Amino acid sequence: MLTGRQIGFVGGGNMAEALMAGLLRNGLTTPDRLAVSDPLASRREFLSRTFGVAVTADNQAAVRGADIVVLCVEPQVLDEVLRELAPALASHPLIISVAAGYPLSRMRHHLLTATRLIRAMPNTPSTIGEGVTAMSLALDMSSEDRETARQLFESVGIAVVVEERLLDAVTGLSGSGPAYVFAMIEALADGGVLAGLPRSTAQLLAAHTVAGAAGMVLEQGEHPAVLKDRVASPGGTTISGLNQLERGKLRATLMSAVEAATQRSQELGKTEHHHL
Ligand SMILES: NC(=O)c1ccc[n+]([C@@H]2O[C@H](COP(=O)([O-])OP(=O)(O)OC[C@H]3O[C@@H](n4cnc5c(N)ncnc54)[C@H](OP(=O)(O)O)[C@@H]3O)[C@@H](O)[C@H]2O)c1
Repeated sequence: MLTGRQIGFVGGGNMAEALMAGLLRNGLTTPDRLAVSDPLASRREFLSRTFGVAVTADNQAAVRGADIVVLCVEPQVLDEVLRELAPALASHPLIISVAAGYPLSRMRHHLLTATRLIRAMPNTPSTIGEGVTAMSLALDMSSEDRETARQLFESVGIAVVVEERLLDAVTGLSGSGPAYVFAMIEALADGGVLAGLPRSTAQLLAAHTVAGAAGMVLEQGEHPAVLKDRVASPGGTTISGLNQLERGKLRATLMSAVEAATQRSQELGKTEHHHL
């Protein structure tokens, strides 16, 4: 569990900020248990001022003696960062990486003695506490480590555990998904403007309609098609709109979008990591 544990963040960007905010907001830890390293002085000052956590430019200092290490750097620099960190991980911490597309096997390659490794794929709404994170664990890890990571990511939304091979599909759905929904909200708002609504009203209605509909699916636990059927009265307005969505192949298009993003994630994984 997280309480009382020393947590070292490497890379103090958006994701580290979101996770630290979630942990502190939920009372899961206190600032004196958190350390973060970042190369940028202005970033360190911001994180120190905002959260009261220890900040350093030295990655090794951020993780030395830590119970949990959270790697929040871009995947392109993670090889170098892991090489640098390896000698400072003598305390055998639980190591959690959020670097997109960076496999567990590659982490293991750099950290030969480390066994407690988790690869996680959060999404952008984590920055407002509404994220979804899929996590994959190295083999033979304790359920306590899994629950510790779950606590971390549930402080910024919900968390699920999947096999590592499914993380490409997670990327295609929840990783890229916010962008699909942004495009849908924009289009719904455009439709409202087309029908005569002021832009700001249209955008507000569109975004809350998406959030409200999602909330009903989550709260009522019904199949979305059942909820859709309930609001489509015979010969009414909604079925006319749905008819247009079917003509435009909305559902097939969204399925293909997830499929295409999943395939792209697989391709990127192959080209970037083929030399290991
Ligand atoms: N944001 C998301 O929604 C999201 C979702 C899924 C996965 N991720 C993953 O999360 C990781 C971080 O993403 P982010 O959005 O937080 O990006 P970010 O805001 O750019 O954060 C990365 C941070 O790491 C710092 N950094 C760069 N090189 C470093 C080094 N050698 N040692 C220590 N720190 C270093 C960067 O500093 P400088 O700015 O000075 O370079 C920056 O502050 C990425 O691997 C990304 O794939 C993010």
